[in-house]
Amino acid sequence: MPAMTTQRLTTISHHIDDEQGLHPEATGEFTSILNDLTLALRLISRDVRRAGLNDVLGLTRDTNVHGEQVRKLDTYSNDVIKRAMQRSGHICVMASEEDEEIVVTDIVNNRGKYLIVFDPLDGSSNIDVGVTIGTIFSIYKRVDLTSDEAGSVEDVLQPGYKQEAAGYALYGSSTVLVYTTGHGAHAFTLDPTIGEFLLTRENIRTPKRGKYYSVNEGNYYYWSENIRQYVDYIKTPSKDKSRPYSHRYIGTAVADVHRTIIYGGIFMYPADSKAPNGKLRLVYEANALAMIAEQCGGRASDGQNRILDIKPNNIHERVPLFLGSKEDVFEAEAFFMGEHPLQQIL
Ligand code: AHG
Ligand code: MN
Ligand code: MN
Repeated sequence: MPAMTTQRLTTISHHIDDEQGLHPEATGEFTSILNDLTLALRLISRDVRRAGLNDVLGLTRDTNVHGEQVRKLDTYSNDVIKRAMQRSGHICVMASEEDEEIVVTDIVNNRGKYLIVFDPLDGSSNIDVGVTIGTIFSIYKRVDLTSDEAGSVEDVLQPGYKQEAAGYALYGSSTVLVYTTGHGAHAFTLDPTIGEFLLTRENIRTPKRGKYYSVNEGNYYYWSENIRQYVDYIKTPSKDKSRPYSHRYIGTAVADVHRTIIYGGIFMYPADSKAPNGKLRLVYEANALAMIAEQCGGRASDGQNRILDIKPNNIHERVPLFLGSKEDVFEAEAFFMGEHPLQQIL
């Protein structure tokens, strides 16, 4: 029997309770929402682990609002999360990358104070080949807490700095859940034999600078000259050996971001001539990942602005993303804006 590596045995439910203790005004609603969510994540993890044996691999006949082909596991995960989140009655509205419109919940007693937005299955192209995939989520309070009206699009279109909680699950070599309520970001590993998430990394800290860069370099031809210069720069050997950086790219944002926040370096999906706003979605992907990155001491920007300050205009809008170690992201931003001192001599 391998040694247990956790120092103290803290389950995710213990941790959520402890975090609630930091908010004397808390009523327990938020705790109940997070517990419902972890149930959905455990169910998805179970089915991902058996993928190939059950009937969850392959495509459906549908195309989603982003023009992407929908896979069975996208649909399944989307349904599981929605079903789990309706239970508590504390959620007034949900928005999912896989649904064209917002999903208003609890129509009869429409009084939930919170809303959840999510990417049910991130890394769709990796599902059928056994490569890491994930789920991303953000929880907000509704804009008007005294409202008797149904939850609305306005509730969903809040800037990321208003997130009450955010996180992701990673279905990789193990299932890992990282979440924050604004008091640091913490990682839990699912013990599948008992169905519990146990604390494995408390208060994750991202190194100030890293040695890895993560980007789909197949888009090089479509990038702006500034982005090309930045990537050329981090690949060019330097006398102090801090460069070249090593390249890592899984093609699942959650997995590439998770590695980046733990090892340091930079993950990016810049805009390009094919995708003028980049590929990732502000509401379902970038905001949650940015909150986690900041809670770990890192930075997340669109090349100029902090991601968390951007007010979304559309629930499905896309945004360029530069995320990771502070010094690396600042350097990428300097190149992006054509202000890096070495840029002129490259
Ligand atoms: P999703 O599977 O939720 O549609 O997201 C896929 C995203 C993201 O996970 C990843 O970073 C990116 O697509 C990869 O895109 P490329 O294949 O263009 O590199
Ligand atoms: Mn995604
Ligand atoms: Mn997805």
